[in-house]
Amino acid sequence: MKRPFIALFAIAVCWLGQPVFAENGYDLWLRYYPVKDRVLRAQYRSYLREIYFPVGSDRLKAAQTELTRGLSGLIGPVSQSGSAAQSGLVVATIDKLGALQRSVPQDAAKEIGTEGFMLKTIGQAGHRKILLTANTDKGILYGTFYFLRLLQTNRKLGALDIREHPKTMFRILDHWDNPNRTVERGYAGFSIWNWHKLPGYIDPRYLDYARANASVGINGSVLNNVNASVQMLTPAYLIKAKALADAFRPYGIRIYLSVKFSSPVELGGLNTADPLDPVVMKWWKNKVNEIYGYIPDFGGFLVKANSEGQPGPQTYGRSHADGANMLADALAPHKGIVMWRAFVYDDKVPDDRAKQAYNEFKPLDGLFKDNVIIQVKNGPIDFQPREPFHPLFGALPHTPVMMEVQLTQEYLGFSTHLVYEAPLFNECLNSDTYMMGKNSTVSAILEGKYNPRLITGMAGVANIGTDINWCGHPFAQANWYSFGRLSWDPQQSASDIADDWLRMTFTNDLRFVEPMKQEMLRSRENTVNYMTPLGLHHIMSANGHYGPGPWTDNMARADWTAVYYHKADTGGIGFDRTRSGSNTLAQYSPQVRARFENLETCPDEYLLWFHHLSWRYKMRSGKTLWQEMVGHYYAGADSVKQLQRRWDTLQSYVDSERFLAVKQLLAIQYEEAVRWRDACVLYFQTFSQMPIPPGYEKPEHDLNYYKSLKFPGVPGQGIN
Ligand code: GCU
Repeated sequence: MKRPFIALFAIAVCWLGQPVFAENGYDLWLRYYPVKDRVLRAQYRSYLREIYFPVGSDRLKAAQTELTRGLSGLIGPVSQSGSAAQSGLVVATIDKLGALQRSVPQDAAKEIGTEGFMLKTIGQAGHRKILLTANTDKGILYGTFYFLRLLQTNRKLGALDIREHPKTMFRILDHWDNPNRTVERGYAGFSIWNWHKLPGYIDPRYLDYARANASVGINGSVLNNVNASVQMLTPAYLIKAKALADAFRPYGIRIYLSVKFSSPVELGGLNTADPLDPVVMKWWKNKVNEIYGYIPDFGGFLVKANSEGQPGPQTYGRSHADGANMLADALAPHKGIVMWRAFVYDDKVPDDRAKQAYNEFKPLDGLFKDNVIIQVKNGPIDFQPREPFHPLFGALPHTPVMMEVQLTQEYLGFSTHLVYEAPLFNECLNSDTYMMGKNSTVSAILEGKYNPRLITGMAGVANIGTDINWCGHPFAQANWYSFGRLSWDPQQSASDIADDWLRMTFTNDLRFVEPMKQEMLRSRENTVNYMTPLGLHHIMSANGHYGPGPWTDNMARADWTAVYYHKADTGGIGFDRTRSGSNTLAQYSPQVRARFENLETCPDEYLLWFHHLSWRYKMRSGKTLWQEMVGHYYAGADSVKQLQRRWDTLQSYVDSERFLAVKQLLAIQYEEAVRWRDACVLYFQTFSQMPIPPGYEKPEHDLNYYKSLKFPGVPGQGIN
């Protein structure tokens, strides 16, 4: 008796306003709750009561299912019409539009290419209809999600005239997932790939994963960790990978595998993996052919070679180009690519690790095959809260380069800190390298503007796991989302993306969207402040990278310690990368070099990245460096307190479950931010020998206390 009543009640509440019942975050930004604004809903319904969608490929079916699901949630049931003439929304590839083809300008078809789409209002007043068209079913899929987003974010349909196409070709999520389901640097549970149940069981979650990716234009997925297990290349696992590839195909996602360079030895029983050895070449050719036997549209390989103990061509006295090209030759007949990582450092500890990738790859420019793309991290060290852009951007004009960013928050508070990373991505993408003259920004280079012949791409290290909300923190979903949006168009603003994400994920109510957007946009800077202000970097605790560890000084390699990077002593702090120090700045263009080298123009944000300065150095603010640093640490922790207060005022706009989840996580974040602040201030004070300026509360404990803290079971250190 009670059930129907409860269901009716829930529906009524749903239609009347924000759902009061709990949401667990599983639906991500694809929630499709009813449009609350009556005028808008009426407008949407006037167009969308009948829609025309042609029968066709699995991909078209996936798009149609999504459209039906989305519209029925947003505006109520819609009917499918057999006639384009009758329908308010007509969806079809250009070649199937019949008479409506005339509505598609010639240049539009060319402009949108193989993955883009056009959305256009056509017809006279009273008989208007919306045309969603593309050259391919993939374009239709992306256009469908785009159209739904317009409704989800309450945009007026008015006179639409939209042409969209992705600015990069390979838009890829890299999973650092091991075959045993641990995830390296994963903070959201275990790997979502249930290898044991594959290939027989296709978890519905795989399809939701694919939908979410397609909705933001992600078109590739590297299934396994860059520290690759050779197991992935065995037939038993290839069959499992094939099952995933089949599941993802309708959503336009190709799969890729990370491979271990020594596979011919470890798996094939050869006595070498020398890339110039014909037997090794043959082994890879056969392996690649075998893979394509299972997965005809397999994307290719991701390779971490000669880095952090991984084998590679240098093990055999060969270059990165020799290694990458050998794999590229095996993949080329199938149109596969090699994503070869520039995150390299060899056994010798360099004078400055920030220089190593450039030193190794710059001499190889132009030597890579066309289907090799060099995957370069956004900054020269390792996904730090703030780094200057990597000097390789713009330094390889004859080589395809893709950018790698880390969505999983290895150095940004794991999944307990609310950190919206899009401002970090924007900062790098908008940086002017000056390598090809003014405005040769990182994004222009990634989009292939200076060498249109080259393949292009962006990769994000996934932050996805088995947690019910996918990413551990409800707001961490925004990092997955914004990565997809930026890989589609690297010039979009973090603010616009946050606006869409908040509306789709929570509510269109501006009383929630506006304040939370501001908080999201500030959140990364807040974290920089309480972790690594003024250009400090790599001072997290050793191995697990959890919490502060500026005192870390005893590791197998000097460039794994914190003291190597901050170089604090009684004379001052910071890494001198000017010509008087490691001269890393020589790797940048003269304009960039001059800006960073000159203390008058070097932004405070990068000060200690490039300079070693006295504790009494006079900052722009008039304070000493010591006072300024302390100020940043305290401001960072305070900003989390403010965020907590803000969140509390927004309770009425958020469902109870996600409200509570964020509230609890913010409390943890505050505690950790204070710990970061106190540990770092006390530690650096041993060198500055200056007091914490008046007005700041004193740390609760002494330095030894912070140094003695142990955190067993820190997540993300999975081994395969
Ligand atoms: C970081 C991270 C490692 C990872 C490496 C990489 O160093 O801590 O876990 O393997 O980056 O990008 O290869």
